[in-house]
Amino acid sequence: MRGIRIKYVAVQLAVAVYIGLIAFAMFNSCSHCAVTSPKTLMKGPAEGKCQLDWDSLGVREVHKSFVPTEELIQSENPAVKKGGAWAPTNCQPWQRVAIIIPYRDRVNSLLIFLRRIHRMLQAQKIHYRIILAEQAGTGQFNRGKLFNMGFLEAMKLDNFDCLVFHDVDLLPEDDRNLYLCDEHGRHLETATDDLRYHLKYYNYAGGVVAISVKNFKDINGYANGYWGWGNEDDDFSARITESGLLLTRPPELTGRYQMVPHPKNSRASSGNSMFFGWRTRWHSDGLNDPVGMNYSVVRVEEAALFTRVVADIGSPPPSSSVTWDRSKDVSLWWFLSFYYP
Ligand code: UDP
Ligand code: BGC
Ligand code: MN
Repeated sequence: MRGIRIKYVAVQLAVAVYIGLIAFAMFNSCSHCAVTSPKTLMKGPAEGKCQLDWDSLGVREVHKSFVPTEELIQSENPAVKKGGAWAPTNCQPWQRVAIIIPYRDRVNSLLIFLRRIHRMLQAQKIHYRIILAEQAGTGQFNRGKLFNMGFLEAMKLDNFDCLVFHDVDLLPEDDRNLYLCDEHGRHLETATDDLRYHLKYYNYAGGVVAISVKNFKDINGYANGYWGWGNEDDDFSARITESGLLLTRPPELTGRYQMVPHPKNSRASSGNSMFFGWRTRWHSDGLNDPVGMNYSVVRVEEAALFTRVVADIGSPPPSSSVTWDRSKDVSLWWFLSFYYP
């Protein structure tokens, strides 16, 4: 009798929680998020500028389990120049775009990615160069710092206007997901097959983000202080939206990606704690921080399909030296509503 009663209460509770979650999702909204058509990225006088035949662009087959050779990719992309650069010759491109990839030891993903991305960017008539920001050594990976380093090194190669920060394992499905920047921060990866094509959360800005050089500098780039997996992209998202920019996205179906499967890293123990203090460190941890930005370039290599900048970016400072005024941390409420706005 008692067992049946406990079971009954448990079922009632589960139903209540379930209905609560549905109601929550129904009223869930994000005032600093906007869905905008890729066509709006071609902004300004169109005279002489590259135009696209949108009807000929669409969803392309993605070969994520076939690892191509460099020779195959080269033969499919004969117009790509040394260093992995290409630009349209019969029209004026809208922007000069650096595709910056944080990288270490993911050669199969890289080859699969290169095969897809070169074809897509040429179909989009983008002036682009593929730049690997590669971390030397075997120390803890630091995606944010690699992006900052990749940005500084990219600007030595070309006068880029637009930066696309891109995980190496993400393959865009739709050629209409235009790799150009708008006047906000543009999150291009709206949905990926690893999470059954759902946006992870409204403030999610991981995977693939396009941002103008001007906006990137204005928000002080990425934080350099996140070592290991997690939260550096959340910090970057907060920098975008709290500086008054929107987080724009293409329509969810256009922003679909597939991820090349890989073992999942566990979250760095310091990530969430660092993120609580993001606002305090925002203006001192980033592009403007000579200590955090300390790195040395080991090698710049112009390969046939990409430019590779290998750099020693150091290792995490002892945790005792990473301090800030914790009384100014964001509240638990802010933190929770960041992930569940
Ligand atoms: N990455 C890499 N080597 C590593 C770890 C990460 O090249 O050992 C790069 C790569 O571009 C990858 C990105 O950092 O796509 C994000 O890491 P990961 O894919 O492990 O993150 P997750 O997809 O699990 O969020
Ligand atoms: C992490 C992010 C990550 C996201 C999606 C968040 O909890 O902080 O760094 O990109 O989950 O996996
Ligand atoms: Mn991944």
